[in-house]
Amino acid sequence: MFPAEVMFHGHAVCWVLGETLEAARLGAAAVEIDYQELPSLVTIREAIAAGNFLGSDLRLENGNVEVALAAAPQVFQGEFEFAGQEHFYLETNSSLAMIDEGGQVFVQSSTQHPSQTQEIVAKVLGVASHAVTVQCLRMGGAFGGKEMQSHGFAAIAALGTRMTGRPVRVRLNRTQDLTMTGKRHGFHSQWRAGFDDEGRLVALDATLTADGGWSLDMSEPVLARAICHVDNGYWIPNVRVDGRIAKTNKTSQTAFRGFGGPQGMLVVEDLLGRCAPLLGLDAMELRRRNLYKPNQTTPYGQPVRHAERLESCWSGVLDSGEVERRKAEIEGFNATHPLTKRALAMTPVKFGIAFNLAALNQAGALVHVYRDGSVLINHGGTEMGQGLHTKMLQVAATALGVPPARVRLAPTRTDKVPNTSATAASAGADLNGAAIKNACEQIRERLVYVAGGKLGISPQDVRFADGWVRGLTFGGETLTWEEVVSAAYFQRVQLWAAGFHRTEGLHWDAVAMRGEPFKYFAYGVAASEVEVDGFTGAYTLRRVDIVHDVGDSLSPLIDIGQIEGGFVQGAGWLTLEDLRWDESDGPDRGRLATQAASTYKLPSFSEMPEAFNVQLLEKAHEDGSVYGSKAVGEPPLMLAFSVREALRQAAAAFGPPGTSVDLGCPATPEVVYWALEKARAANHLSIDLSRVELSGM
Ligand code: MTE
Ligand code: MOS
Repeated sequence: MFPAEVMFHGHAVCWVLGETLEAARLGAAAVEIDYQELPSLVTIREAIAAGNFLGSDLRLENGNVEVALAAAPQVFQGEFEFAGQEHFYLETNSSLAMIDEGGQVFVQSSTQHPSQTQEIVAKVLGVASHAVTVQCLRMGGAFGGKEMQSHGFAAIAALGTRMTGRPVRVRLNRTQDLTMTGKRHGFHSQWRAGFDDEGRLVALDATLTADGGWSLDMSEPVLARAICHVDNGYWIPNVRVDGRIAKTNKTSQTAFRGFGGPQGMLVVEDLLGRCAPLLGLDAMELRRRNLYKPNQTTPYGQPVRHAERLESCWSGVLDSGEVERRKAEIEGFNATHPLTKRALAMTPVKFGIAFNLAALNQAGALVHVYRDGSVLINHGGTEMGQGLHTKMLQVAATALGVPPARVRLAPTRTDKVPNTSATAASAGADLNGAAIKNACEQIRERLVYVAGGKLGISPQDVRFADGWVRGLTFGGETLTWEEVVSAAYFQRVQLWAAGFHRTEGLHWDAVAMRGEPFKYFAYGVAASEVEVDGFTGAYTLRRVDIVHDVGDSLSPLIDIGQIEGGFVQGAGWLTLEDLRWDESDGPDRGRLATQAASTYKLPSFSEMPEAFNVQLLEKAHEDGSVYGSKAVGEPPLMLAFSVREALRQAAAAFGPPGTSVDLGCPATPEVVYWALEKARAANHLSIDLSRVELSGM
């Protein structure tokens, strides 16, 4: 039909409309395409060697790295490449589009970002935004995979409905979703790190290369967040990080829980794990010595407010996890078990909350109170299983002083709340919660006059709680919420309000990479204990203890669920899930080989830790956020570094004391096996503990 360049194996070349799903499939199967094979780059190394990059490079610099490295008593260098991750949300990408007799386009889409879906559908159809409404009832999971990638499928459905005048649905099957949509970016890193005599990091020089796939998508902001998180929970006075995006003939990689943060943090956790034995220090001690302390600043210039909470989480885990006792126990176990080794590792998390781009930190809400006292809320956030809607109901119920059963939530729609940001960056509850609270407070401020008049008290003294309206003092008359609402209607008082919120105090220079892009940091610490079998590398996760800071939790059960789920998803990324693209020459080159659950190993019940203790940090009120709460969606994923570090230490335990293990990522049983084999071999070699050059994988 027409010549076009296919950028990756699985790139759609045409879409077939059919009366039924079966007809559309048969039609698609009948399409014949002549391919002419062009040279391709599949791995990040190939792209780096070819100098094939996308977008702009970034640099973060603070202090003087060269001077600090020259003066540092201990300097190590290494290379580390690690894989991306498939989102594997249960619901694949889907959209249903229809057009009414007035030409209004209505799209139901499984999307984290209805406003952007709306913009893109409008652009593709050549109409204004007001002619397109996008609704998202809920998603069956997203994890960042539907922040950007969902828009194209919605636009295809909208095009189909425009062409036929009939409703059109696009729904990918699992293999299509896996082969066509973007994933977490894999990274390559190269680093030099300098330590003082006490094992404190004095300098870090790193180059991070993200594997962007064939097009830019959100690779630039993902890379920026990676660079801003290379310090994780550690103070490093001299830092230089260079970042770039490799262009490869693969799916266009995208947001995934943590949005680049995990990739940046993994680099420093990996290097600390490798350097600890070379410094003659226990990895746990090395990490603790380097934790941020109050009044220190990140490399991009943001004060690390509440840094003492890192220490609180750390000692909380030491206590609740009985870490010292178990470490002694593990030593005893390892001394008597030559063929099985155990290890326990502790790692911290510090994660910045807010979108780096300040403009995105705004949200809206629409709250209606009906004459019968029932409340309908709309907000700009989307539900993907993270419990946002439940939290928003709680916020509205609390702010209006009514029982949660009086509040109902309407589907997220662009014609109710416009110009929304993606539900992402873990900021969904912070932003939309504040907008709902703002709308509810406007309504309450009007109702206090109505209630004050009826109760014969001053409006300032009116209180709303649990569906009752009464005065501040004991005794006195009590009204029901419904009575006040009804009275307000007859007094012609507006019973609905639009709420708005914008996060104050953020600033960010994206070119110089300096400023205060985050409203606050989320903190947490995890301790994981593993047991590794020396014959096969197979391992079990024996116990996990977590203390995590969610501020004053809006909903403890939801937050604990997010912490558990995030942790397990992180452990999947770091130890099980193994994306493989065909690297051979020939027609299968670039084909995703792991395109089903049968070949892509996800965590399941058998990989759950035998004991899993999650605690929320106490007395953790966060000033200036919704009822003192903090974001929870992404940060716990990175607590799973502790699992990979424990595996490294267990592998090292097969070698002589002081063995530094270079562990691949994901640390699958096979990878762990080869790491412990190498450690075992070191039993027969003498090792030099002073300046050792670490090699790549
Ligand atoms: N939890 C579930 N169950 N499903 C998801 O898709 N996405 C995560 C996290 N938790 C996700 C999830 C991601 S990537 C983000 S950014 C946050 O939820 C988004 O929601 P929030 O901002 O309301 O926390
Ligand atoms: Mo989450 S990766 O910010 O959608």
